[in-house]
Amino acid sequence: MLEVISEYGGLTVLAPAKVNLTLRVLGTRPDGYHVLESVVAGVTLFDTLHAEPDGDLSLACRGLEAPAGPDNLILKAARALGARCGIRAGARLSLEKRIPVGRGLGGGSSDAAATLVALNDLWRCGLDPAELAAVGASVGSDVPLFFGPPMAVMRGRGEDIEPLETRFTWTLVLAWPAYRMPTAEVYAAYDRLGEDGDAKPSATAILEVLGGPVRDAASFLVNDLERAADNMRERRFDVRACLHDAGAQAVGMTGSGSAYFAVADTEAEAQRWADAAGVAGAETYLVALQSEGTDQRENST
Ligand code: C5P
Repeated sequence: MLEVISEYGGLTVLAPAKVNLTLRVLGTRPDGYHVLESVVAGVTLFDTLHAEPDGDLSLACRGLEAPAGPDNLILKAARALGARCGIRAGARLSLEKRIPVGRGLGGGSSDAAATLVALNDLWRCGLDPAELAAVGASVGSDVPLFFGPPMAVMRGRGEDIEPLETRFTWTLVLAWPAYRMPTAEVYAAYDRLGEDGDAKPSATAILEVLGGPVRDAASFLVNDLERAADNMRERRFDVRACLHDAGAQAVGMTGSGSAYFAVADTEAEAQRWADAAGVAGAETYLVALQSEGTDQRENST
């Protein structure tokens, strides 16, 4: 999903947002993490990470607010790579943040994956993508998926990535409210609910309808975490209802929320819904499925 641009004296990596088109929780692991099955797609909303050689490790952020301090996934990823490769080099990192934080769009994980790719090059670590993904898994469950292609089935804790050839041409309206969803709390709320999801379609059932008209997809956009996230939202802004009111039929929640997406057959339709949802109080952004990066296209010929 990542796209790397080499420049004299540094590297820039485009780090996309992801959308969980579906997310089913299949069980709980002894360590408390959940066993997932999820169809995930990279979409055309990007953070930009730039890395240059430097003696110290530093990070400067512009754009939307990003978590500062040692909990920042970029700095965690840099330290994890340094430890893995026995390197104590630094780097001057700068991030242009466009993917909103705490909305289930994977921005922090994507930034962490971008950091691993950039520093692997800058520090000449020589790790291959699978090794980088393994370092990424120690930083966050969603990091490994960003080393894969634009669409994949994600399984296990998140580390098991099955690349998909499947493509869709839908336009997606991303819509999110002012509040964030704390992922760990949503999973804990899910456990308390004790949901029985047997009646729902499987996470991969959506693959059958991906190329077709959007109306066929509506009942397949399942996310087992939605009821838990919805309960936590209480009476705050209802993004799903807002998108439905705007005219969208096929609506899903990504990750643990708080962002939702609506799929549209045409960009004009998506724009109408985005405008209406925006007037009703949601932040919106139109995206397409991310296309393969130049490197991947060259490799496949
Ligand atoms: O791995 P990461 O730190 O991104 O996960 C954040 C939280 O989400 C975890 O602390 C855990 O509560 C929950 N989680 C989970 N099962 C997964 C992924 C995340 O329970 N497969």
